[in-house]
Amino acid sequence: MRIDKLLANSTPLGRKEIKQYIRKGQVRCNDKVITDPGTHVDENNDEITMNGERVTYSKHTYLMLNKPDGYISATFDKHYPVVTELVPEEFSHVELFPVGRLDIDTHGLLLLTNNGDLAHRLLSPKSQVPKTYFVKSAKPVNDADIETFAKGIELEPDFTTLPAKLEPIADDKLTSHVTIYEGKFHQVKRMFEAIDNEVLYLKRLSMGSLVLDETLSEGECRPLTEDEISDLIQGLS
Ligand code: URA
Repeated sequence: MRIDKLLANSTPLGRKEIKQYIRKGQVRCNDKVITDPGTHVDENNDEITMNGERVTYSKHTYLMLNKPDGYISATFDKHYPVVTELVPEEFSHVELFPVGRLDIDTHGLLLLTNNGDLAHRLLSPKSQVPKTYFVKSAKPVNDADIETFAKGIELEPDFTTLPAKLEPIADDKLTSHVTIYEGKFHQVKRMFEAIDNEVLYLKRLSMGSLVLDETLSEGECRPLTEDEISDLIQGLS
């Protein structure tokens, strides 16, 4: 690939700055100075340095966001702030998008990436990726509700959810963990409506093997670790 493209993908620098670095002879490929931004390099095998620092080529970027209330899971919206506005400046050169949608008032784990293929596989109904949520409900949940979730709930005339887990986590049964295997619009909220209850607060804790890093404050994100990335990918195959 072209050296200027590789550097644009792998560093926070803009095209203009990259050109300047190259023109000044500050970029090397296998220790040979590169002066033409259009030079082709082998992104997998060549050793690229910039001012003596090794540049690691990464085709894809993966960020874990602790989504706050008030943000739309999109890259653009006419009326509301969008989750990509929370991405730090250093990733502004990457075209990240959210993998699936959390409602505007839902909190917690949202994966942002530029890997369309992985996003597609994570969201495909065939993959049945488990998603676990923390829920505060208006009324206590009971054993009958747990059974109803376990059987699957008819949400639309032609759609019944896969068996889901409802696990109350406090004595008052007003807080629960819920695990679902699809990602239908307002799914958890609609499942609670179906048992004559109401979700007051919803936070996603995990998606597949990926678990929300609770050290992230709301609105903060961090890159996934190598292990998190490989576990997520392996969980799909
Ligand atoms: N279920 C919902 O109802 N809302 C979400 O944001 C996610 C799952």
